[in-house]
Amino acid sequence: MNYTIKSFEEYQQVYQESVQNPEAFWANIAEQFVWKKKWDKVLDWNFEEPNVKWFVNGKLNITENCLDRHLQSRGNKLALIWEPNDPKERFIRYTYRELHEKVCQMANVLKNNGIKKGDRVCIYLPMIPELMISVLACARIGAIHSVIFAGFSANAIADRVQDAQASVIITSDGLNRGTKQIPVKRVIDEALEGNTSVQRVIVAERLGWAVNMEDGRDVWLHEELKKVDKDCPAEEMDAEDMLFVLYTSGSTGKPKGVVHTCGGYMVWSDYTFRNVFQYQESDIYWCTADVGWITGHSYLVYGPLLSGATTVMFEGIPTYPDAGRFWQIVDKFGVNIFYTAPTAIRSLMAAGLDHVLSYSLDSLKVLGSVGEPINEEAWHWYNIHVGKERCPVVDTWWQTETGGIMLSALAGISPLKPSHAGHPLPGVQPILIDQNGQEIKENEVEGYLCMKFPWPGIIRTTYGDHERCHQSYFANYPGLYFTGDGAKRDKNGMYRIIGRVDDVINVSGHRFGTAEIENAINQHKKVVESAVVGFPHDIKGQGIYAYVICDELPQNPDHMRAEIIESIVEHIGKIAKPDKIQFVSGLPKTRSGKIMRRILRKVAEGETTSLGDTSTLLDPNIVDEIIEGAL
Ligand code: WTA
Repeated sequence: MNYTIKSFEEYQQVYQESVQNPEAFWANIAEQFVWKKKWDKVLDWNFEEPNVKWFVNGKLNITENCLDRHLQSRGNKLALIWEPNDPKERFIRYTYRELHEKVCQMANVLKNNGIKKGDRVCIYLPMIPELMISVLACARIGAIHSVIFAGFSANAIADRVQDAQASVIITSDGLNRGTKQIPVKRVIDEALEGNTSVQRVIVAERLGWAVNMEDGRDVWLHEELKKVDKDCPAEEMDAEDMLFVLYTSGSTGKPKGVVHTCGGYMVWSDYTFRNVFQYQESDIYWCTADVGWITGHSYLVYGPLLSGATTVMFEGIPTYPDAGRFWQIVDKFGVNIFYTAPTAIRSLMAAGLDHVLSYSLDSLKVLGSVGEPINEEAWHWYNIHVGKERCPVVDTWWQTETGGIMLSALAGISPLKPSHAGHPLPGVQPILIDQNGQEIKENEVEGYLCMKFPWPGIIRTTYGDHERCHQSYFANYPGLYFTGDGAKRDKNGMYRIIGRVDDVINVSGHRFGTAEIENAINQHKKVVESAVVGFPHDIKGQGIYAYVICDELPQNPDHMRAEIIESIVEHIGKIAKPDKIQFVSGLPKTRSGKIMRRILRKVAEGETTSLGDTSTLLDPNIVDEIIEGAL
């Protein structure tokens, strides 16, 4: 592949080409993949509907590009290194040839269980090799995978399974997480109560636990694998056939299924992976994200495998058995490129330097950060103590909807500036929009971050509801894709992300809609109304602050708080637990009934003096009460 940029001058030149002649630019890159049939046209698009098609009428299978095409030159090279939760358990390694075989076998299991091209398969698995294998097996036969992060609750799963109308779920008996073992299959059983679309549940064995197996519906993966052979032809897919759906939170209560398609996503995840990390053939690469999130899709599975890299997958958590675990794994496998989230860096920072200083970390060459703004302190700590000031730290900005990295330095090539994502990747055309919807052309400005031209990895639709895609991303500023983020641009054209400007909060790099959490709180029978806002949190980036009105002020507030938390855990999962719950008798509302979240945010931040004009509120006194009762 000859599209890795080698210098900043080259980046500038390539960037210009990508903007001036995007079709020729992407055709040249796409040609280097394996296509079953070449496209007729590189790009068809409008942002009004929206309707974006890349590599129109091209035919391919992404797994032939991830696996088959490497077999000749890299058949014996490691594709996957899997490290278990327990450091005493043996790790697993698969070469490209072995992974290819595993994927084909799994694909045959899916076929034997009635799955066809276009069917939706939900995958609710911990970070075990079967997760990667299942994802690729779906892609192999043209089934649309929808991975659900294994921390989501039964209710959250039920919503996603229902929305995707999935016919099959792949899960496991249980999972390991630090010192805990969690009965995953039981969560699935609960999620499927009353469900009619799911015909089959395929269960991988991880803990060896006895689980309930429903007759006619549930099968053990290891039993199914005995029945299949190891060849499975790759289904011919149109470039615009759906590859996967991944649910993410927006500003309304219901998560939306972001849809990515085969051709564009393939080109984009590979191109961005190689360029941002400056990947080289012998590099050992490790992304710590869970495959349940987009980062795991693009930079643990697809990007690295498309590039023929060795990708590390870790089942556990950064603090088990102690806060040195990441660094121990880096040394153990000689990891060269390491990609993680600011929240992990901050929590390891808080655990003290000893944990990092006891490892050599000599193998590291490139460090990456993703998922939320990285504060300068964390950036420097990462740079000094992990990278020993010799590894470029790339702060990569992107979203579930963008499929891959959009704004980032190219490691070792672009200038770095702490807490700045930096310049746009080739093909990315960001613009900043002011309050009045006008483009801000100058530098040293701040505005709403939008994109004015499609890139191959752009979201195509929201599953089952195209209008929602239009409303969420393309309606605010007609003709533009709106990211939902605010950003600054410095004098050199480098971008710094400020954070969400909509009702989405980012907790430890995970997105939640405030409405989604409010819905879960409101399920409690004693709750009348609630309002959720984010507030700055030292480790998580943002914490969750909930203001709750109950039918009467709770006699035992701690007890009521525990019940509210229980409701959230039940409806979303532990990952959405609020940090603070304040009981109030009312909320600051305008006369038209709109909650003034700005005020609630300020109070949550501990800022009580400059609340701005409160005279337009229905009941200005409520603000004093809220300030007084603030936690
Ligand atoms: C935020 C994760 C600042 C941003 C890949 C975005 C970031 C949301 C960065 C998407 C970064 C992601 N700097 N903020 N480097 N990366 N974000 O869909 O608010 O889980 O809109 O995708 O995370 O989150 P998502």
